[in-house]
Amino acid sequence: MKTSLRTHTCGELNAQHINEKVTLCGWIQKIRKLGGMTFIDLRDRYGITQLAFNNDTDPDLCKQIERFGREWVITVSGTVTERYSKNKNIPTGDIEILVSEIEVLNESLVPPFTIEDDSDGGDELRMKYRYLDLRRNVVKNNLLFRHQLGIAIRNYMNHIGFVEIETPFLVNSTPEGARDFVVPSRLNHGEFYALPQSPQTFKQLLMAAGFDRYFQIVKCFRDEDLRSDRQPEFTQIDCEMSFISQEDILNTFEGLIKYIFQTTKNIEITDIERITYADAMKFYGSDKPDARFDMRFVELNNVLQHKEFKVFNDAELVVGIVAKGCADYSRKQLDELTNFVKRPQVGATGLVYVQCQADGHFKSSVDKFYEQADLQVVAKQCDAKEGDLILIMAGKKEKAQKQLCELRLEMGNRLGLRKAGEYKILWVIDFPLLEWDDETERFYAKHHPFTAPKPEHEAILESDPAAVNANAYDLVINGTEIGGGSIRIHNKELQKRMFKVLGFSDEEAQKQFGFLMNAFQYGAPPHGGIAFGFDRMCSVLCNSDSIRDFIAFPKNNAARDMMLNAPTRISDLQLKELGLPLNEN
Ligand code: AMO
Repeated sequence: MKTSLRTHTCGELNAQHINEKVTLCGWIQKIRKLGGMTFIDLRDRYGITQLAFNNDTDPDLCKQIERFGREWVITVSGTVTERYSKNKNIPTGDIEILVSEIEVLNESLVPPFTIEDDSDGGDELRMKYRYLDLRRNVVKNNLLFRHQLGIAIRNYMNHIGFVEIETPFLVNSTPEGARDFVVPSRLNHGEFYALPQSPQTFKQLLMAAGFDRYFQIVKCFRDEDLRSDRQPEFTQIDCEMSFISQEDILNTFEGLIKYIFQTTKNIEITDIERITYADAMKFYGSDKPDARFDMRFVELNNVLQHKEFKVFNDAELVVGIVAKGCADYSRKQLDELTNFVKRPQVGATGLVYVQCQADGHFKSSVDKFYEQADLQVVAKQCDAKEGDLILIMAGKKEKAQKQLCELRLEMGNRLGLRKAGEYKILWVIDFPLLEWDDETERFYAKHHPFTAPKPEHEAILESDPAAVNANAYDLVINGTEIGGGSIRIHNKELQKRMFKVLGFSDEEAQKQFGFLMNAFQYGAPPHGGIAFGFDRMCSVLCNSDSIRDFIAFPKNNAARDMMLNAPTRISDLQLKELGLPLNEN
C-alpha cells in the first residue's frame, strides 16, 4: 500500500527486505528502553513493525523521541535490519527498522484505555471513544470480516442473477411489527415519515415491476428494546424472487449459506436440516433451537399426572430433559439449577429432578409422591440410563416450554455442549400464519401481514385462523435466528381478507397498503423471499454473542450513541420550521 508518504505498511516487511531503505507511517503502540537502545512498536491497520534507535550512534534521534507517547502518529525512514531477538508471533518479527529520520505527524493525548487485545476500558468508555476502540485488533478484525462477508454475498448473488436495488429510507409509518422511528416533515407540517423496518413492501413492488431476483444489503430501523442481538439500526441481506416455490427459495439460499461458510470460514456445510415449527417447539421449546446438542424434551404428562403431586396434576404440560452423566450432581449444584429457573428472567416456580443412580435407585425431589416404579417409568420414557439426571418442569404449555428451553441451554453451557466453532444450521418451516395476543385480544401476523397462508389452508382463514399455517421459514444457526421469510400474497382479494383477519377495516387497509394492493391488480407475479440479519450473521460466524462487536458505531442498550451523545434536543428554530412544539424552559 505505497503512498506518497510511505513505501510499505507496518505489516509487510520481512527478512526478504533486509537492507532496503523504507518509510513507514503509523501509531506508536509501545516504547521500550533496553540499555543503549530504544524500541518503538509502530502499528497500522496491517500490523506492527519494530523501530530501533541506537543511543550511541544516534543520540539526537534518541533525544527527540524521549517526549513521544502512545498513539502519536509518526513517519519514519530507515533501513530494514535483521533482529537480534526474533518474535515468531508476528509476520514482521524477523526484522526491525534502524531509523535514520523521524517526523511527528500528530501528537496524541494519553488514550483513556489501552489499545491492546485485552483492553482495560469498560464498555461505555470504549463506545465513547469508539475510534480508539476500532484501533484494537479484535474490533478491527471484526470489521474486516464484515467487509469480506459483504463482498462474498454480493459476488454470489450477482453470480446467480440477483440485482441490487436501493429502496427509500423515508417511508410511511405502519402499525404492524415493531415501533417505527419517525422523521417530521418540514414541507408538510404535522406529517411524518418513518424509517423502514425492512424494505418488505418495496421488494414486493420490485417483483410486480418484473425484477424477478432482487437483493439489497440495507439498513433497517426498529424502535425495539435492545438486547445483545438487537440494535435499533441494523443491516439486512434482503432478498426476493418471482415464479418460485418455497423449495426454490430454500435451495437458493442454502447455496448462499454454503458459499459463505466456504469462503469466509473454509468450512464445508453438507446438510441443512429442516424441522417444522411444531416439532421445534415440542422438542426444544423454541422456534430457534440450538441443535448443536440433543437433549430433546420428553412430555411426561401421561406418567407423572394423576398421582399425589398437585403441581403436576394442575399443569397443562409436564416436560423433562435428560442431562447425561449428571446423576451425581450435589445438593449445591441442584440448588443452583433451581435458582437458575427461579430467576425473574426465566420465571419458573420450581424444578423437579430425578437422579438415576448407579445402583438402580431413583432419587428425586418428589420422592414422597412417587414410587420407585413410577420413577422407573419416567426414566424409561426419557430413555435415561443409570448415571443420568432428569430435570422436569411443569405449567402452562408455552411457559413451561420456554422455561425448560432456558434450562436446556444452561445445561448445554455447563456441559460444554455448545461448542464454539461447531455450526448446526436448521431451516424451521411451516410456521403458523397468525398468533393470538391475549392482551389486545386479536390475531397478529406471526411473520408479517404479506405472508400467504398455505394454499390448502386458505379456505379456513376466517373460520379457524389459529390453525392456518404458512409457507414461512426461518434460518437458525446455533440457536440464533439468522433469517426469516415467506411466500407472499400476490392477490388483492386474499390480501384484503388477511387484513380483515388482522382487524383492519377495509378503509384502514386501503389507506395504509392501498399502493401494494393496487400493484397486485396490475399483474403481480407469484413471489417470495427472505431477509438475513447481516450483523447477526457476522457474530454467529465469529462465535460472538454480541452484534455490537461487528458494527462500527453501535448504540448502547438505552439506544444512545455514546460518542455523539445522540439523541439530543434540537433548537427552537428547527422545531419551528418543522411545526413542532418548542422546547420547554
Ligand atoms: P424479520 O423481521 O424476521 O423479517 O427480519 C429478518 C432478520 O433480520 C434480523 N433482525 C435484526 N438484527 C439486528 N437487530 C434487530 N433489531 C433485528 N431485527 C431483525 C434477524 C432476522 O431474522 N421483511 C422480512 C423478511 C422477509 O419476509 O423477507 C423481515 O424483516 O436476523
